[in-house]
Amino acid sequence: MNHFLDIHKTDAADLRSIIDQAAKTKAARVGQPKAALDDEQPLKDRMVALIFEKPSTRTRVSFDVGVRQMGGQTMVLSGKDMQLGHGETIADTARVLSRYVDMIMIRTFDETVLTEMAEYASVPVINGLTDRTHPCQIMADVLTYEEHRGPIKGKKVVWTGDGNNVCASFLHAAGQFGFDLTFTGPSQLDPEEEFMGFARQQGSTIQVERDAFKAVEGADLVVADTWVSMHDAQSAKERRHNMLRPYQVNAELMSHAKPDALFMHCLPAHREEEATSEVMDGPNSVIFDEAENRLHAQKAIMRWCLGN
Ligand code: CP
Ligand code: NVA
Repeated sequence: MNHFLDIHKTDAADLRSIIDQAAKTKAARVGQPKAALDDEQPLKDRMVALIFEKPSTRTRVSFDVGVRQMGGQTMVLSGKDMQLGHGETIADTARVLSRYVDMIMIRTFDETVLTEMAEYASVPVINGLTDRTHPCQIMADVLTYEEHRGPIKGKKVVWTGDGNNVCASFLHAAGQFGFDLTFTGPSQLDPEEEFMGFARQQGSTIQVERDAFKAVEGADLVVADTWVSMHDAQSAKERRHNMLRPYQVNAELMSHAKPDALFMHCLPAHREEEATSEVMDGPNSVIFDEAENRLHAQKAIMRWCLGN
């Protein structure tokens, strides 16, 4: 059994096999109704708990559908309705849930909730986003890039805006999949040094460039995310918008990247803020493929967690 806690905590060869598995099972579903069972049902007779301490559309629906397609069952739990939200310890919650379910996916705030859950659970635990990282999203993004443009190894990815949780997992993926990443955003919102350091140690070129137009030169992929994440104080919204406005991804910025550069956004988006609709709905945007690939990537992650 394996936990899927973060991209930098997972063996690079395992990450590659997860992507390959995802591509294979995705291909096998072409033309199938959404609720049809997969030919193989690695989650047959398995129960999966999906715990949300923050809102979600994609993570919630893609995990739920994915488990069912693989023959399993789900229960979707809101953190605030559980005793977890009323003082029960994470350790006790993990031990109790392990008596009922075969796998736990959790979206939470502080990453110590995730790591403690994994420490005390006797079943696999999957990170469905914390304040610091979002590994399932970036597995879907790697799958999406490779579907459109072939191997991501050696490519130049440019992250625009806030060096947040999704950016962190992109940095981890840079190290593990061997691509380079340039961060462009205000210094107050730089990614954590630790995450940039990880990717550099693996041999990736990680750069910080304050000028968005210089940053995107030669980019194979340009990525944006919301300027105010779920864990950010709403009171900081105006200040963040003022800092981040020069980093908006619009047609002019994209024209400085390679002509075939893809555009990604994990969604949900605030259109005309971090990116314009012209870019989001333009020919180089793969935002809805990313959303779809959450399903296929996570199915492969769950199989890996259960050792098949
Ligand atoms: N991208 C993503 O994780 O979306 P949700 O917040 O809707 O799950
Ligand atoms: N950075 C965003 C990602 C949402 C999927 C957030 O944490 O709110």
